[in-house]
Amino acid sequence: MSGPKLNLRVRSIEPLSPLLKRFELEMADGGEVPPFGPGAHLRFNLQGDHQRWKNAYSLVTPPTERRRYAVIVRRVEHSRGGSAFMHETVKPGQILEASVPANLFPVSQIARKHLLISGGIGITPFLSYLAAFKSKAAGYELHHFCRAKEAEIFGHLLRDHESSRIHIHAGTEFNLSSVLSSQPLGTHLYTCGPEGLMDLVLDTARTHGWPASKLHSESFGSAHMGGAPFIAILKRSGAEIAVREDQTLLEAIEEAGFEPTNLCRGGACGECLTRVLEGEPEHRDHYLDEGERASNCSIMICVSRAKTNRIVLDL
Ligand code: FES
Repeated sequence: MSGPKLNLRVRSIEPLSPLLKRFELEMADGGEVPPFGPGAHLRFNLQGDHQRWKNAYSLVTPPTERRRYAVIVRRVEHSRGGSAFMHETVKPGQILEASVPANLFPVSQIARKHLLISGGIGITPFLSYLAAFKSKAAGYELHHFCRAKEAEIFGHLLRDHESSRIHIHAGTEFNLSSVLSSQPLGTHLYTCGPEGLMDLVLDTARTHGWPASKLHSESFGSAHMGGAPFIAILKRSGAEIAVREDQTLLEAIEEAGFEPTNLCRGGACGECLTRVLEGEPEHRDHYLDEGERASNCSIMICVSRAKTNRIVLDL
């Protein structure tokens, strides 16, 4: 993991449902946790017996809290194992290594109202938003989508906030167009959750004339990271790296001992942009525009792969 690291002791683990666990963490040295803003996340460096994962989880504690952090982890079936490791192997008292908080999903400081739309575990960044809105008496409206059997759990997580502003949709009817078209001027829209939900929300907002400057979304990527194996050649060192079907290009490069710059590891921030010298990328990011993708001159190594058996990178 590049950048400053934190050693965090697991203070407690609370099962919220068979698939959701809440982890409370404190500094291993007993000090205060570094400050963070609403929407920030921690990236954990999880070391299994034979594998390492770097998973990001949104902080759900109020940003004013300095004695502890908390994250909620959904155990993702068919994932590459990081969430299963958190659920099954991590125990209270254990020390975990994490990055300092990073924030790719901050709250707009100029919004007059905040419209939040989330699905499933995508509620987590909004839990720190709501704590911040409460202390500033900011205007907001939250729509959360979940399965009927999880509605009570999410209701419990949101219990401390104004119920008139919070709408949990578990199979109930929802008119997205009507919600998007009836917002006051100056409203900013934030969405986090499954790709399908975020795409629908953002596409519908654009159709209703929302400018890009008022649209905010966050995705940490998902199980959609795997694909056919290929060889990556790092031009500067001459290293030849086999990228397995169950790992990302970035993970394979890190496993080989290199530390390329990265931040979101979800194809959104642009930090890992790398020049392609030979070979054809299979673009899976949300960062490059259409022209950049078509030119095949660059690749976001955190999520994208190669269409060709071999790709040469300017690294
Ligand atoms: S690390 Fe953010 S786009 Fe790759």
